[in-house]
Amino acid sequence: MPRPIALDLFCGSGAVSLGLQKAGFRVVGAVDFDIGACRTYRENHPDVRLIEKDIRAVKPDEFSDLIPGQLDLLVVCAPCQPFSSQNRHKSNNDSRRDLVGQSKKFITRFEPSLVFLENVPGLASTTIFGGFRKWLKKAGYSVAEPKRVDAADLGVPQRRTRMILVAAKGVPLSVATRLVQRRRRTVQGAIQGLPVPGIGKPQPGEDPLHYARKHTDLNIRRLQYIPHDGGGRESLPLELQLDCHKRAERASSFSDTYGRMRWNDVAPTLTTGCTDITRGRYAHPEQNRAITLREAARLQSFPDNYIFHGNAGQVATQIGNAVPPAMMRTIARSLLAAIRA
Ligand SMILES: C[S@@+](CC[C@H](N)C(=O)[O-])C[C@H]1O[C@@H](n2cnc3c(N)ncnc32)[C@H](O)[C@@H]1O
Repeated sequence: MPRPIALDLFCGSGAVSLGLQKAGFRVVGAVDFDIGACRTYRENHPDVRLIEKDIRAVKPDEFSDLIPGQLDLLVVCAPCQPFSSQNRHKSNNDSRRDLVGQSKKFITRFEPSLVFLENVPGLASTTIFGGFRKWLKKAGYSVAEPKRVDAADLGVPQRRTRMILVAAKGVPLSVATRLVQRRRRTVQGAIQGLPVPGIGKPQPGEDPLHYARKHTDLNIRRLQYIPHDGGGRESLPLELQLDCHKRAERASSFSDTYGRMRWNDVAPTLTTGCTDITRGRYAHPEQNRAITLREAARLQSFPDNYIFHGNAGQVATQIGNAVPPAMMRTIARSLLAAIRA
């Protein structure tokens, strides 16, 4: 049976493509404009035509020769920062807010059987999103209600609440949206057993992603006070607390800073700052350091043979931005079932 064909818009480092391929799709084309992410994408998906351009300048016909018949699936994972609750500087004038709408030219051109969109839940309440759903209906699609999902229920050792939207034309929407929950995975299952990493830079002959960020002496002292396995900064003596944390009204917004992950739980949502203990609960459950890029990649369900290109900041961005491949694979199985129904 030929594999259904997919296009991956805003493909980043290729996590969506990986999940789709594992579920049985053939990804033929992808679009992104980030240089580092595109290098990573090409390395891991050499057979996919990646157009490395601003999507606003991409013409759908650049993929036409790859899609002689029906396009089965169009994936739209536009940047979530303009709608994210974690973004304290978001603005209605952010030009990235209209990027979801760039998918319309691909939908008009190829009329995919399924359109799948993933973003932060904040997108669902915007007029942009309401308008997009209306547009899909006018274009003849059955459009599901936006659904909140947690990656932790879909095979990923991480709490990551996302909104997904599925639209279908000519295939059963009810099958495409029927998600099967997967067994919970934990931080322990994902990262325990990795060797104690070196500090500051990749170590010769060792996993290039498994080295710990160098912390200041002050932050090491702080970490020494944080109880193992889930402790937080409330255990810090007053003299080691940051001034902003001492002010009660600000305290709650930074409650995860310096916090440790818990072995027998899922990880917190990984962001592009996921190897920085000042940006979230990103300290190792018992070692006095932030998690490494390897640990972050595993907590996002990337296999160890997935190769990342770029400096530490670029790789952290690629990992933090990714739709966890295991989550995408679980969702893609339902999408595939609808196409084959
Ligand atoms: C949420 S990330 C996508 C993650 C990706 N689907 C994955 O699973 O790894 C959003 C992506 O949109 C890309 N992007 C943002 N603006 C863009 C634009 N105008 N044209 C093309 N890509 C863009 C970013 O470079 C980023 O990789």
